[in-house]
Amino acid sequence: MTDVAIVGAGYVGVPLAQVFAEAGRSVLLVDRDAERVAQLNRGESYIEDVPSATLKQLVDEHGLRATTDYDELRDCDAILIALPTPLSKQREPDLSIVNGAVEEIAKRLRPGHLVVLESTTYPGTTREEVLPRLEASGLRAGEDFHLAFSPERVDPGRSDWTTKNVPKVVGGITAACTDRAAALYTGAVDTVHRVTSPEAAELTKLLENIFRSVNIALVNELAQLCDRLGIDVWEVVDAAATKPFGFMSFKPGPGLGGHCIPIDPFYLTWKAREYGFYTEFIELAGKINENMPYYCRSLISQALNHGAERSLKGSNVLILGVAYKPEIGDTRESPALKLIELLQKAGANVAYHDPHVPAVPELGLRSAPLEPESYDCVAIVTDHGGIDYEALVDNGAVIVDFRNATRDKGRTSEKVWKL
Ligand SMILES: NC(=O)c1ccc[n+]([C@@H]2O[C@H](COP(=O)([O-])OP(=O)(O)OC[C@H]3O[C@@H](n4cnc5c(N)ncnc54)[C@H](O)[C@@H]3O)[C@@H](O)[C@H]2O)c1
Repeated sequence: MTDVAIVGAGYVGVPLAQVFAEAGRSVLLVDRDAERVAQLNRGESYIEDVPSATLKQLVDEHGLRATTDYDELRDCDAILIALPTPLSKQREPDLSIVNGAVEEIAKRLRPGHLVVLESTTYPGTTREEVLPRLEASGLRAGEDFHLAFSPERVDPGRSDWTTKNVPKVVGGITAACTDRAAALYTGAVDTVHRVTSPEAAELTKLLENIFRSVNIALVNELAQLCDRLGIDVWEVVDAAATKPFGFMSFKPGPGLGGHCIPIDPFYLTWKAREYGFYTEFIELAGKINENMPYYCRSLISQALNHGAERSLKGSNVLILGVAYKPEIGDTRESPALKLIELLQKAGANVAYHDPHVPAVPELGLRSAPLEPESYDCVAIVTDHGGIDYEALVDNGAVIVDFRNATRDKGRTSEKVWKL
């Protein structure tokens, strides 16, 4: 018998497996990708937060395993679902992956099972989508099996707050479901916080992501106003952050990226429409944030005009950093990709350098050497560590800095254009 099965061995599933295995639980990762499964079983990690050395030890000494076979779920006590929840082309929730997996789980459901959905989604998903599919097995939630929602709050690339020490919010279909899920996480993660329903737990995660989206939009709007006012927005944000209470610092940037912040808020927008309600903050934030790559393109164009007397068309532009945030190789929804596409459409010759991203197949590009002298303009889109940004300023190219990576040096140089 295995203690915990985690369906979906991605950014969420693999760190979650580590936390349970390190707490002494037997863990099985279930993924449809046979290549990933083979890698996991060899102790080779493709998730940067769980180094291969750590994974190998978990496989060799703690019995962590991976499989593509859903049948193995029959012999597991708890089944956690950490599968993608994307948006459709029309920007509506696409639960097909989760629902498909739940139908497979339902075929193997037995009395005593605990099922927990961890994927980010709108309030009502666990009760309206997961529950009826599982109960189609003939078993009843709260009586024969337990069902709960517990959002994953991991921030990939971060080492101070991890899956283990970020409190786990848990809400079950019944009080007994909440108790059972809370008992599973207790001992594996440091703190468990119970709420009274899966809906409260689902909305908790969305509130966290919407909070970020709205506040990032606020500083992005301010950055555009600051350009007109001739004020350095970074100086203002840094100064405001000296207030010890009542202010939380958010930085402007080229737009939102990753699997969460650009997508999740629209799960709530969609659900709200069912109740005749319009989530205006979410829509406005989305509009401002989605416009940022266009604004950044115009900044690059201006910088080339004034700094190099060149037009965007025909210029050689190096994008520095294409991952959606520093120190990771994840390019999902990265604003850098949108910006590259816009620059290419405008006739620029675009290359990129990113030590974490060797290639971007969808754009047909590979990471180029960091040789700023070969370009008319270098645009700092993601400020990975290990790059001497101040030295970049001393080079020939015009620099456009969307991350304040050049700091004081960029503030005083004629050649640096900042967001
Ligand atoms: N990545 C994050 O930072 C983060 C943080 C918090 C919450 N979340 C949420 O967690 C959920 C999972 O996100 P992720 O980033 O871990 O996704 P991911 O894309 O990294 O991993 C998903 C995994 O599921 C596998 N998979 C897809 N369909 C499958 C199926 N039918 N059966 C078995 N395996 C299947 C894929 O092969 C992949 O390995 C999403 O709802 C996301 O919004 C993500």
